[in-house]
Amino acid sequence: MTRFVLGIVLGVLLLPIGAFVWFQYGHPPVAVADAPLPMERLITGVPLHARIDKEAPGEAKAQANEATFVAGAHVYREQCAFCHGVYGSASKVGQHMFPDAPPLWEKHHGEVVGVSDDPAGETYWKVANGIRLTGMPAYKQVLTDEEMWQVSVLLANADKPLPPAALALLKEPLSFDHPDAPKTIVMPPAPAKSGAAH
Ligand code: HEC
Repeated sequence: MTRFVLGIVLGVLLLPIGAFVWFQYGHPPVAVADAPLPMERLITGVPLHARIDKEAPGEAKAQANEATFVAGAHVYREQCAFCHGVYGSASKVGQHMFPDAPPLWEKHHGEVVGVSDDPAGETYWKVANGIRLTGMPAYKQVLTDEEMWQVSVLLANADKPLPPAALALLKEPLSFDHPDAPKTIVMPPAPAKSGAAH
């Protein structure tokens, strides 16, 4: 009996000690380029989808029309393009995150463009709530409900022909080196130092 209890106590103690030794000396993945932990995708993916299935609204609260696509493209260009890329050009930063930010205007897994295979309600949930322990931010305190629906309905239609006004926005390059941008940034003069140094 004593040996049994001792075994349990030792087991209970060994577990955190083992974990500590591994954290300290075992080189667990911390850098973006490190290999994922075994089953990491599964552990984070299953509960995320269970939650979305429960909470994502079924019906989109924005019509799939030109006004929505153009407004959604504005939101996308301002808030999302830095990580998810613009139309025709993926984001370099997005590719070097873990997990990476998928390009939302490119085909993957054969034929699917971005998240156009997901209902707008699922994308709306991700935009509103973000995805924990990834770089995907939660926008419900940043964007209005209408804006979140506009960008979600736009992304659900990413595989369809879009109106030229929306496409023009989505194709705007990420770089500041825009032909119309001022060539040099003029810094204001530094404030004059007043008084003697103490
Ligand atoms: C700071 C970088 C960053 C910004 C800005 C950002 N995202 Fe994300 N997003 C990510 C990352 C990283 C993931 C991958 C999360 C994962 O793999 O679970 C992601 C995932 C997603 C997904 C799920 C993709 C899939 O394949 O299921 C959608 C949809 C999405 N983002 C939409 C948006 C929208 C819309 C915006 C702007 C309103 C936005 N994101 C802004 C980093 C970002």
